[in-house]
Amino acid sequence: MRIRTKDIVAKLPVYQPGLSAEDVKREYGIDNVVKLASNENPYGCSVQVKQALEEEISKLSLYPDGASLKLKQAVAEQLQVSSNQLIFGAGSDDVILMICRAFLTANDESIAADQTFPQYKHNAEIEGARTIEVPLKEGKHDLEGMLAAITERTKVVWICSPNNPTGTIVTKDQLIAFMDRVPSHVLVALDEAYCEYVTDASYPNSIELITNYPNLVALRTFSKIHGLASLRLGYGIGHPEVIRSINQVREPFNTSRFAQAAGIAAIQDQEYVTHCKQRNAEGLGYLQEQCERLELRTMPAHGNFIMIEVPMLGKVMFEQLVSKGIIVRAGFRHYPNAIRVTVGSREQNNAFIQAIEQILLECKVDL
Ligand SMILES: Cc1ncc(COP(=O)(O)O)c(C=O)c1O
Repeated sequence: MRIRTKDIVAKLPVYQPGLSAEDVKREYGIDNVVKLASNENPYGCSVQVKQALEEEISKLSLYPDGASLKLKQAVAEQLQVSSNQLIFGAGSDDVILMICRAFLTANDESIAADQTFPQYKHNAEIEGARTIEVPLKEGKHDLEGMLAAITERTKVVWICSPNNPTGTIVTKDQLIAFMDRVPSHVLVALDEAYCEYVTDASYPNSIELITNYPNLVALRTFSKIHGLASLRLGYGIGHPEVIRSINQVREPFNTSRFAQAAGIAAIQDQEYVTHCKQRNAEGLGYLQEQCERLELRTMPAHGNFIMIEVPMLGKVMFEQLVSKGIIVRAGFRHYPNAIRVTVGSREQNNAFIQAIEQILLECKVDL
């Protein structure tokens, strides 16, 4: 073929999503598949969202409001920020992409942990920028190491808290000490996709910090605790000037009518958010207890997923679990012996524990 892509694009991998429940049903002939691979909300979304969506059906032929004004107002009210501090995207993936578009060029660098959400590096590379990967320390962000990696070329530092896939957090004290030393020309993108699940008192309130640090932008999503992954809606909260720059590269209609209507209903139903947070804490506690009983080491988990060390390659454990109808995530570059498991419903968590216990027993018998 004569058509050539840009050199940068030619080298990029295509994002590999985990197996879907349908894939496993088809390939393994299993009816009852439990998917704990994508950190989705096992309870779905608020009923209020469903009502809001019904009202939108009659407006399918109309473009959405590109500026998401009503959604902006609803989120601003809930978070107690100004509307001009918010930017919405088709998932926080889109906000990450827009940050890279707005702030990174071919001579720039961004800094991220070496085992974290891959889209930071991926989108930075598309802009031609280099991403310096700083090794995690015991699964946690090494903020000293990240500070040391900052150069004149650094434009963005990515911090993921809770970190996907390790589940660890950066505490308020650590974040403040870090922000105090980050040069003001560097934007710190704090990805808080799982913040609503965190129960640890040392976790920062990033919105308070944004007032003091105009170079801090927090990223959030409706895909996790709000249970709206399919609608693609995420947002950034930051200083109005940072938000304006991101807005300049936004596609005209990057969030749909459905997503906007759902987002308003979801953010206003805080009772449902609290309910999901509580159920998640119970499920996480159960998984932690069971892992201890099975003598499996775990990372300190703070979101709706847990990283578990297994006595074999994570990919091997993944295959064995899939053959029992349980889908998890494995194949982490720096954690080859680990799996990442989403906290599911009580029944899903039970099914996972039963399956892994059986695999571990079979493995002992084989020895
Ligand atoms: C840390 C983190 N950030 C961002 C995202 C992207 O979420 P979405 O684009 O669905 O908002 C995910 C999805 O799993 C994630 O784990």
